[in-house]
Amino acid sequence: MSGPVVVLVGPPGSGKSTVAALLAAKLGKLHRDTDTDVETTAGKPISDIFVDSGEPAFRALERAAIVAALQDGDAVLSVGGGAILDADTRSDLSGHTVVYLDVSVGEAAKRVGLGVARPLLLGNVRTQLKNLMDARRPLYAEVAKLTVTTDGRTPEEIADEIAEQL
Ligand code: S3P
Repeated sequence: MSGPVVVLVGPPGSGKSTVAALLAAKLGKLHRDTDTDVETTAGKPISDIFVDSGEPAFRALERAAIVAALQDGDAVLSVGGGAILDADTRSDLSGHTVVYLDVSVGEAAKRVGLGVARPLLLGNVRTQLKNLMDARRPLYAEVAKLTVTTDGRTPEEIADEIAEQL
């Protein structure tokens, strides 16, 4: 391992990938994203992995991508929102600088394109997002060394705050 990694965790819509890219540039480090690494390994988009092979197959690829990225070290790493579901991953993250990007359900819904325009179509999906966030919040908090509020703030402001607090 060549040094601890700054790892951004949080639910879909918390801004992990965007903030990680800005923070990496600011710190002069490489930005890695495990969703991108998984897509490269599988040779297809994540949505196709879920449809073709199921979520457990995706989680196995995600776990392997996280192990590889932590091993390589010296990077700012964004991981998929569900990465912290894996107990081994939560334990592996303890040696690294984990930042939890906190976001409200309403803001996350907006950022992932679940607006309020069609409540009949989107209401159930928003409820799923809320349930997913409620279930995972304790896991994000468990691994985090630093929690940053993202509602109403630009990715640049968030990256600046993280850089100041590292
Ligand atoms: C997932 C979040 C996604 C991606 C996959 C599963 C999740 O990443 O890893 O679709 O379980 O929350 P983002 O958090 O970047 O959307």
